[in-house]
Amino acid sequence: MARVICITSGKGGVGKTTVTANLGTSLACLGQKVCLIDADFGLRNLDFPLGLSSRLNYDISDFMAGRCGLHQVTIQDKRLSNLSFISCSGSADHDEDPGLFRDVVHFIAQDYDYVLIDSPAGIENGFRNAVYAADEAIIVTTPNRTAIQDADRVIGLMSDMIDAPPQLIVNMADDPADRVLKLEDIMNILNIGLIGVIHMDMDIMRSVAKGIPIALDPELESGRRFRHIAHNVVQNEQEYVFAEKTKKKRNRLFSFSKGLRWGQSNSV
Ligand SMILES: Nc1ncnc2c1ncn2[C@@H]1O[C@H](COP(=O)(O)OP(=O)(O)OP(=O)(O)O)[C@@H](O)[C@H]1O
Ligand SMILES: [Mg+2]
Repeated sequence: MARVICITSGKGGVGKTTVTANLGTSLACLGQKVCLIDADFGLRNLDFPLGLSSRLNYDISDFMAGRCGLHQVTIQDKRLSNLSFISCSGSADHDEDPGLFRDVVHFIAQDYDYVLIDSPAGIENGFRNAVYAADEAIIVTTPNRTAIQDADRVIGLMSDMIDAPPQLIVNMADDPADRVLKLEDIMNILNIGLIGVIHMDMDIMRSVAKGIPIALDPELESGRRFRHIAHNVVQNEQEYVFAEKTKKKRNRLFSFSKGLRWGQSNSV
């Protein structure tokens, strides 16, 4: 039975889909049998970074409705025989039943070591669907204050839905934009285990455009980093530097929003 992990964030555009594609690829490169499920119903874009868009015939809603078999909805990656992908519907009117989606995901999970679910942005039904189907969660954030505040909110919401403590990936960590926080400050605010840091990287943008996950090339900096994150996931390890800080009791949103409101931020 697979470990079913939801990749989520709160704020949109922070890199959930990029992380799902590359973490999945990295896990497969480590020899794990992996299935990636796009749960961003209505928008559907995990097929792009994987380069599988031209091969979509059915989606998970077709399988849930009995219109196709599992073998028809499951696309096997041609580069890695142990990496599979299941798309979701791209039409906007879709709202799947969370219980049924969870059952289907757990049925699929029987054949894999890892199932990664790419969650939609926000905290609406789509997010709840994705989280409800998972046993573990990875939160993706950028150093941007809004992204961190949203991540904090999501961590709070998930505490009622997933028993396992969530893990953190900081993406675009060296984003030169204004209003960004240092890694250490992010750890102090969110206070969950850090499993990896990915920098802002033009090579990632190029790889997404080409549909070739950067994790396939460990010679590239981000490829190496994604492989390292996969290693941390498999070994249940965290980034050691911050391990002491994550042991502190979480003092969540209140202190963060207070800091924002009173201008007492942890900013650099
Ligand atoms: N580390 C990075 N360096 C440079 N570009 C990145 C990086 N991570 C992601 N991107 C780019 O940022 C954009 C948003 O990434 P992505 O689609 O993965 O975010 P998302 O969180 O899934 O978005 P949404 O909430 O809309 O689903 C994409 O164009 C992607 O190529
Ligand atoms: Mg996405």
